[in-house]
Amino acid sequence: MNTTTTAVPRPPGPPCPWWGLPLLRSLSRDYLGFVQRLQHAHGDITYMHLGPEHAYDVFSPELVRAVLVEQADHFIRWERGIEVFAQAFGQGLLTTEGETWKRQHRLLRPGFAPRRVAGYAGLMVDAARQALDDLVPAGQASARVEVDALMTRLTMDVILRTLFSSRARDEARDASDATQVLGRHAMREMFLPVTPPDWLPLPGKARKRWALRTLHALVDHHIDARLTADPATAPTDDLLAMMLAVRDDEDAGADTGLSRAELHDQCMVFFQAGHETSATALLWWSRLMAEHPQMARRARDEVDQVLAGRDPTPADLPRLDWLGATLKEAMRLYPPVPALMSRRAVKDAQVGDWRIPAGSLVRLTPWVMHHDPRWFPAPEVFRPERFTADAPPLPRGAWLPFGTGPRVCIGQHFAMLEMTLVAAMLLQRYTLAVESGDATRPAAELNVTLRPKGGLRLAFTRR
Ligand code: HEM
Repeated sequence: MNTTTTAVPRPPGPPCPWWGLPLLRSLSRDYLGFVQRLQHAHGDITYMHLGPEHAYDVFSPELVRAVLVEQADHFIRWERGIEVFAQAFGQGLLTTEGETWKRQHRLLRPGFAPRRVAGYAGLMVDAARQALDDLVPAGQASARVEVDALMTRLTMDVILRTLFSSRARDEARDASDATQVLGRHAMREMFLPVTPPDWLPLPGKARKRWALRTLHALVDHHIDARLTADPATAPTDDLLAMMLAVRDDEDAGADTGLSRAELHDQCMVFFQAGHETSATALLWWSRLMAEHPQMARRARDEVDQVLAGRDPTPADLPRLDWLGATLKEAMRLYPPVPALMSRRAVKDAQVGDWRIPAGSLVRLTPWVMHHDPRWFPAPEVFRPERFTADAPPLPRGAWLPFGTGPRVCIGQHFAMLEMTLVAAMLLQRYTLAVESGDATRPAAELNVTLRPKGGLRLAFTRR
């Protein structure tokens, strides 16, 4: 992509000596801290020159919406980010652009509409019951639980059931490790101009090859089983069945379903994007509930009153207002995707007072927006009341755990339903507490998603 070289007025930003290399190093060492300091030093739109790149960061809801919503067609996702992700996701919804993305989105969106997603609630509840029921061994009142492993296994079970009508069994551990390995690699490779070939004997490459092999094999196994299954008995109501059935009306006449390769790539995206993110949100939520017993009690009382001991359903969500607010506030403090994929301007754009020339790069960082005291007073404090139904409205674009605009997360209703059902069922069964040696909240570590460094352990006491 050509970058514009004619002189254009630029917003303020840090000095960029040595082609910006020291800045690039700071970014790769502490991405979120670095970007947050940029906002503190230079305001809501900043500029820096990194090698050949003209890079902007935007930090106010209005400016973020100018990029992601109002002028969405002036931007594509950053090619290097796409290159790195395409190794794991192929040409799926997350990595395509233009007409290919439009077609995929048109075909797949109905499968993620709230009414369709509500049909998965039973499967989500089954997965949660199975994961939660026996956490504390018989005869004991409480147990120390590895919450990382619990939430990852649970959300993986949900995605396997909804995607393939399958269950997380032995493959689950490997698939979860593989997802983590690819996340760590993606984070490192984003800062390299090109990805060294995977066959090179470089540190970590063997592990990456294993991770890719593991996930491709998992997805291929399920697709092959479905394509060779007896149609009379094959599942008809999971996401794979939906993907096999879709046809593009706009192209009448042609066989306009998804090809085998497209099916594979979409499954890779849904499998990885669809479990790691929800697990991350539930992890931080669990820690915050353990740290704030009063807020947790209020959520538990609400759950008891609305559900009276039965399993939750989608129809209960509007009445689980406080519980929903605790989840939203957890995703504010710890957005599972704290930095969106950067965008490349393909046409000149006007962002606030500044013209962003075609060819420029724009970074969007929910982490910084979510910790801005202008929209969230006392931003480090866990205050679910910011998100209850009677709370004053937030500026649109200030809270964006799922992104916004045409490329908003297609799974947002799925994720909110899944997380609310799981959270309600967890509070029906257990009280969470921080163990005495773990008073300090774990640091957040960015590996595409924002995980607690060193994992998370909590005491679960049976109610
Ligand atoms: C708490 C859970 C989740 C969070 C926080 C989350 C977050 C996000 C974000 C921020 C984006 C946009 C990235 C950008 O603009 O650069 C995104 C896109 C996407 N997400 Fe999610 N996600 C979650 C759950 C899910 C689930 C459950 C699925 C599918 C089952 C899913 C599938 C996708 C897909 C396919 C895209 C690409 C959409 C497109 O580009 O058209 N996500 N997600």
